[in-house]
Amino acid sequence: MRKAAIIVAAVVFASSGTAFAAGEAAGGDPAKGEQIFKQCMTCHRIGPGAKNMVGPVLTGVIGRQSGTAPGFAYSDLNKHAGENGLVWSEDLIFQYLPDPNAFLKKFLTDKGKADLATGTTKMTFKLANEQQRKDVIAYIKTFSDKK
Ligand code: HEC
Repeated sequence: MRKAAIIVAAVVFASSGTAFAAGEAAGGDPAKGEQIFKQCMTCHRIGPGAKNMVGPVLTGVIGRQSGTAPGFAYSDLNKHAGENGLVWSEDLIFQYLPDPNAFLKKFLTDKGKADLATGTTKMTFKLANEQQRKDVIAYIKTFSDKK
């Protein structure tokens, strides 16, 4: 009985661990991602000559501190996450897209900044589908070394 409980605990731990494993955003198709990105284009632009719109420019967002695209008026929530160590990686964007507000609040809370985990992000869009997230991130990544 006891042994079974330990095994169950180990399995639960292992499967919850994979949700944060490195490289979880890998395996996307940038060509498919370009199609998905059309949904993002309601608010975002990416690539040469991209400008801030309703949302910040996403050129170079991978490796960029959260809330720092020049000239964009971010929410406090988005800025505070960056000021407390959020630098966008493929995996973090993958975790962010299904629920940006919850992600930013959890990030700040995990950093011991629950007092800053208030308000709402202006990024109201949610992308739940796992493969679509991988594909759109693969597309965004093709612009990651650019400013
Ligand atoms: C309805 C408009 C809208 C759509 C659609 C949208 N976004 Fe956003 N996004 C925003 C806004 C506004 C912000 C700034 C959030 C803030 O200041 O709280 C943002 C922020 C972001 C950030 C953080 C940028 C930074 O500099 O910190 C990422 C990453 C992002 N969006 C990715 C995406 C992706 C990928 C898609 C498509 C799958 C998408 N967004 C669709 C409005 C949108």
